[in-house]
Amino acid sequence: MRTYYIAGNWKMHKTRAEAAELAGALVSQLKDGKHKYLVAPAFTSLETVGAIIRGTNILLGAQNCAPEEQGAHTGEVSVLQLKDLGVQAVILGHSERRHTYKEDDELINRKVKLALQHHLEVILCVGELLAEREAGKAEQVCETQTVKGLAGVSATDLSRVTIAYEPVWAIGTGKTATPEDADAIHASIRGVVGKLYGAKAAGDIIIQYGGSVKPDNAALLMAKENIDGALVGGAALKPETFVPIAKFS
Ligand code: PGA
Repeated sequence: MRTYYIAGNWKMHKTRAEAAELAGALVSQLKDGKHKYLVAPAFTSLETVGAIIRGTNILLGAQNCAPEEQGAHTGEVSVLQLKDLGVQAVILGHSERRHTYKEDDELINRKVKLALQHHLEVILCVGELLAEREAGKAEQVCETQTVKGLAGVSATDLSRVTIAYEPVWAIGTGKTATPEDADAIHASIRGVVGKLYGAKAAGDIIIQYGGSVKPDNAALLMAKENIDGALVGGAALKPETFVPIAKFS
């Protein structure tokens, strides 16, 4: 039985004081929330936000991590450093990492395996570009990113993986995939997980939708059989837009 999982990706927004204010509001407004929740502040606010949400129903997530535990990697942050701050989950393969910072499937897979080895939960993002969708390749792109992202991940570790389907053309653009189009891709990703890990794993894996999720489209998306939650960007930056998504009905 899958639970709904709503995650807020704060991207490169908010100073520590601003992050603390948002985290405090979410703690009080989501304390009676019935789903699984996560917030992923910038690295600089992890400690501040972690102290505020510790012991609540909101998990602490990071937006990225390095593919190595330590070493000469100027500007990177390692899983050990994230765990030291109380981080419980990490978002990997976000389209901004794939397309702006040129992360490929092989690099993302190394990060996925390292994070899982250190017992973090992982949100693995997949999604097609507009040109790929228009060329009829959306399913194929998501299949490739899923298969390559999960290469070498054991069935046991898969239980700590969530997949987020985020069509790149819908991120931060105000354009949302229709619930039907999103559900079709979610079903196809679930099929891919089934081929790799069997029917039970396919039935259990949580697949979030991301890309311009808002209070007024969240319930319609989540009503679909294969949509198990949301990875929210812009609307996660304010309690008045994140809380209604997190408490959709
Ligand atoms: P958005 O971002 O909700 O602003 O479209 C989603 C994401 O990038 O995770």
